[in-house]
Amino acid sequence: MHVSKITLDQFRRYDHLGMDIPEAGLRIVGRNASGKTSFLEALLLLATTKSPRVSTERELIRWGSGVDYGLQPYARISARVHTANGEHTLEIRLEASAASDSVTRKTCLLDGKSVRAATLVGVLKVVEFSPEDVQLVTGPPADRRRQLDILISQIDRHYMQSSSRYQKVLTQRNGLLKAFQRDGVSWRSIPAVEQLSFWDDELALHGARIVAKRVEVITALTERVQHWSRELLRDHQMSLTLTSGIPHVDRLLTVRGDAPDLESHIRDTFARELESARQEDFRRGVTSIGPQRDDITMTIDDRSLAAYGSRGQQRLGVIALKLSEADVIRQLTGELPVLLLDDALSELDEHHSAWLLESLAAGDRQLLLTSAVDSTLDRSELAHLEVMSLEGD
Ligand SMILES: Nc1ncnc2c1ncn2[C@@H]1O[C@H](COP(=O)(O)OP(=O)(O)OP(=O)(O)O)[C@@H](O)[C@H]1O
Ligand SMILES: [Mg+2]
Repeated sequence: MHVSKITLDQFRRYDHLGMDIPEAGLRIVGRNASGKTSFLEALLLLATTKSPRVSTERELIRWGSGVDYGLQPYARISARVHTANGEHTLEIRLEASAASDSVTRKTCLLDGKSVRAATLVGVLKVVEFSPEDVQLVTGPPADRRRQLDILISQIDRHYMQSSSRYQKVLTQRNGLLKAFQRDGVSWRSIPAVEQLSFWDDELALHGARIVAKRVEVITALTERVQHWSRELLRDHQMSLTLTSGIPHVDRLLTVRGDAPDLESHIRDTFARELESARQEDFRRGVTSIGPQRDDITMTIDDRSLAAYGSRGQQRLGVIALKLSEADVIRQLTGELPVLLLDDALSELDEHHSAWLLESLAAGDRQLLLTSAVDSTLDRSELAHLEVMSLEGD
């Protein structure tokens, strides 16, 4: 798959940019703050409908947007994408209220028709890598869950739906528990338990779907991570495991990890464990178990990569993970995702830079690489990629 055209209007620092992108990709160079990361961010946004960099989507709209024409602040991002199922035009429009920074309306369009975000997600498939991604190893579990969710939603369009349903049910259940806590309702109260049971069933249903999908994708990822890490980490073995936020599910996965009815086993276990945790949930006023507590443990030779890996090993571990993500997307969807490498070589030694570029050049994939230093990307392995120079201030 590849992107052949991109148009940015009022996005980040871009007033207007419209350009063709060659099928092989681009080397994007420009000094600091020239808009390299924002360019890749626009593609990530079209692929997933979300940007991991923002706290509110208002940040994506150019400062002063709309002022010249007396319009509300707005931004428009669109791209032409070539997939195995034909060509598509993807577009996201953001409109902000001039009065308030907190309200941004987002419209997703596929081939000119307004669609739900879940429909747009995954039409374009990307894997992004930047040096900050080392956070995935050392940072909090929420970062790893988010990364996994971004990957799975590009593979399976129902996943985002299950996730958002789960989130809604969880919010309802937590609201109820808070109210019980506030009113001093006993965990033995039959009407309270009956009310809660309705949400328990829903939680177990959607939660099991999420966990089963996470298990499937992590199993595929682990196989590829082992392959890449053998090459990158000089025969040290890297591995991934899902540590479930539901008691006893880890054991279930070890025993019946490849059972065809795994999802229903998880659902039963989750429902049973919700019952066991009821007293604790009443006391805390919050749901204490579930996939919202999942984590992904990364190990090197069976030891925690976060605790024992050197900084360089952690960085290479993340590269192995990203290359594996691209392989898994291909394996499960048949499409080779576009690779967005933001300043990826800046912290690699010569040996690993050469190895990485050779591996990437070997695949028939679209590559978009950035660097603030022209010479970093001035290499023979990248000679087939055109250079785009961005002007700084
Ligand atoms: N909403 C916005 N409106 C206008 N400018 C913005 C907006 N958001 C960010 N910027 C500015 O855009 C510039 C480009 O940011 P970006 O992160 O894309 O640069 P970069 O080329 O990746 O830089 P670096 O080499 O430092 O990583 C920054 O100066 C930033 O302050
Ligand atoms: Mg940048």
